[in-house]
Formats: sequence, C-alpha cells, structure tokens
Amino acid sequence: MHYFQYRNNELYCEKKKVIDIAKEFGTPLYLYSYRTITEHFDKIKRAFSCLDPLICYSVKANSNLTILKILVERGAGLDIVSGGELFRARLVKCPPKRIVYASVGKTEKEIKEAIDYGILLFNVESLPELVRINKLAKSLNKKVDVALRFNPDISSSTHRYIVTGKKETKFGMDIDSIKHIFSSWDNYSSINLKGLHIHIGSQITQAEPFIRAIKRVKNIMDELAKDGIYLDYLNIGGGLGIVYSEEKPQSAQDFADKVLPLLKGMNFKLILEPGRFIVGNAGILVTKVIYIKDTPIKRFIIVDAAMNDLIRPALYGAFHRIEPLRKRADVFEKKLSDIVGPVCESGDFLGKDRELNVKEGDYLVVFGAGAYGFSMSSNYNSRPRAREVLVKGNRTYLIRERETYQDLVRKERIVSI
Ligand code: LLP
Repeated sequence: MHYFQYRNNELYCEKKKVIDIAKEFGTPLYLYSYRTITEHFDKIKRAFSCLDPLICYSVKANSNLTILKILVERGAGLDIVSGGELFRARLVKCPPKRIVYASVGKTEKEIKEAIDYGILLFNVESLPELVRINKLAKSLNKKVDVALRFNPDISSSTHRYIVTGKKETKFGMDIDSIKHIFSSWDNYSSINLKGLHIHIGSQITQAEPFIRAIKRVKNIMDELAKDGIYLDYLNIGGGLGIVYSEEKPQSAQDFADKVLPLLKGMNFKLILEPGRFIVGNAGILVTKVIYIKDTPIKRFIIVDAAMNDLIRPALYGAFHRIEPLRKRADVFEKKLSDIVGPVCESGDFLGKDRELNVKEGDYLVVFGAGAYGFSMSSNYNSRPRAREVLVKGNRTYLIRERETYQDLVRKERIVSI
C-alpha cells in the first residue's frame, strides 16, 4: 500500500501531481510520501501492540534527517550501524534509550561516542568486540548494556548479498560462542548482558525463516532461564519484504499473528528493526529521458538518473517497476528497451527489457526506491547527488538540496608535488 497513484494517466503523490514537482525541483529527484511512511510505521507498531514493542527504524534504509525526525517524533527508536548514523540520531534528538547499535566493526571512537550518549543497547557481534566494549566502558567508569547478536544459521530466499543469518556470513555469533560468553560472564565487569538479537537478512517475504530463527533464539532464552538468567530484551531484527514486482509479502499483521504465539508468556521487551518495510514503497525516483538510442539489437532509453543514484539493479539485479510519469494516450512506438543512465559502465541500468511508450524529454518514475536508494547513492562519475522532496497532502518540502559541482570537490586539495 502506498500513496503514489495514477489518476487520468497522471501520477500523483498524495494530492500532488508528480509532474509539477519534477518541473519545479528538477531531476533526478527522490520523492517521498509522508503518509506512506507514517502508515507503515503505525501498521507494524499496531500489529505488535499487545507487547508494546520498541520499533527501531533501521537508519541505513533511508537516513534523511527529516524522515528520521518524523519517525522519532512518532515514537520510533533507531537501529544504527556507525558513528555517522549516531550523529544523525542525535541531530534529530532521538532519545538515547531508543537507540540500538549493530555492526561487526565498531571502532573505539564509535563505541565511546555511543557510550557517551547512553544508548539503550550495543548489539554485540563478536567476542573481541565484547572485550573492547568492556575495556572502554571500564576506562570511562560506565556500566554498559549489551545484547548478543546470535547467528541462527537460517537460510532465506533472498539475494545472497543480503542474507545475514547464515553461519557463512560475518554477522553475529554461533550458539557455542554465546554460551561461552554467558559462562564466562564474570570477566566482563563493566557490561550488563541484557538481551539477544537476531537479524537474518532483508527482503524476506515469508514468515517461515523468521519463525525458525525466533524459535532458535527462544531456545537459548529458555536454557538461560533454567540457569536463572532472565533477559530484558529480545530483538528480532528487520528484514520484512515489500512488493517490487509480483511478490506477495506477508502483511505486518500476518507476520505478528505468526510470531506473537512464539513469544507468549515471556517477560521481556520486544525490539524490531524494520527499514525497507517502512520506507521502501514510500519513495520513488523521478528521472527524465535524455535520448532514445536505437541500435540494431535493442533500444536504450537513456535517462538522467544512473547507478550512482540507485545501485540496486546493478548490484543485486533488483527489479524496480518503471513507468512514465504521464501515461501517453498516443502510442507512437512501444519497444522493448533498457533504461540506462549516463555512467560509463555496462552495469549502469535501472531496468532491462521493459516495454515503454516514451520519447525524449518525457519523465519516468522508478518505484520502490525509498529504501536503499538515496542512502546507497554515490558521486561516481562525479555526478552530484539528487534532491530529495517529501510530500504531505498537497504540500511539498525540500528535504535535501541537490549537490553542486563545488560539493563534489569540497574536501579535495590540489597539491603541487
Ligand atoms: N537490522 C540490521 C542489523 C540490519 O543489518 C538491517 C539491514 C536491518 C535491520 C534492516 O533490514 P530491512 O528491514 O530494511 O530489510 N542494500 C540492500 C539491503 C541491505 C540490508 C542491510 N541490513 C538492498 O538494497 O536490498
């Protein structure tokens, strides 16, 4: 469900015609719907409301400050993975006790910053990391709360680059390492062990892998309880899939209906870390056709957005629906085409073999670009990054200015050698 809909062959975002926004703000342009973002957040919150969970929105999915602020003001916490994301969380005044911090490579500087801000939990991914946090906490005279990230060794049918819950991946710890840490707990005098964390991957459309993973983590909790150890938090991560094409993902309610019975009778705070589910379908990428290039083999629709703006097709072969902003009644020539950007790589495409009825100067829209779109964009080929605009009802808000050529070189020096 989202608020990008065609009416009379014109795309609207909430109450605004997208073409008017594209003309006003130029392209390439990321456009977000306020109502879609907030409704998705509310849906997941409502589905789990009987446990009053902490929903820590995963900042990496889309880290625009206005989007973070909207969610934090609605009661969200934040799932962060770097000092930079902590900085963003602080800028939007996210209360520290609503922040959880994962990442296999937290540096000393990052750990100290997070201790200093007083975050709720470090999601610890290895023994050396635990040792490091303990040492730093001691030196700062603090006692720090952590959850251990358990790698449940669960496979799921998603792209191999975004599977994180298999034992071959770098994430989390296996059961023996976790048990070892519990049995040697006295070594970590500056740490309180407060919970367990899992996150098995992303864009998972079925409940089944989540259920298997939750059962495994629950077994550990049960074993600990037998030894008289009761944990305060269980974090079941993010990963809920959305519709890009023909997927039939579970709704938040379906997911909750399957997961909640597993958690019955347990006395802990539930944490979830959704990213894509909240923002994925709340954003589109608007781009303009620069040229139509016909070759003996195929047609290329060359547009002003490229892999530096949206890398998912190039990196994961991800499918994003692409349509004209204004569907033309006059069919002049529908032809199977690749939609490509100006970047000098053959992997620079937004879509392949699509049937589109467009001509030079038309606008196209790439759907499902709200998550891992702008946040994974780069300046490759010295291309300034796009503007970001948010629509609420019939109002538009510029939430990120387009980069300039000057921005591209701001940190560089021309050194005479
Ligand atoms: N929690 C942790 C510890 C994570 O690593 C992630 C995502 C999330 C939560 C949020 O997952 P989500 O609910 O958004 O699926 N760039 C890839 C996705 C990478 C996901 C990385 N971790 C893509 O464009 O598909």
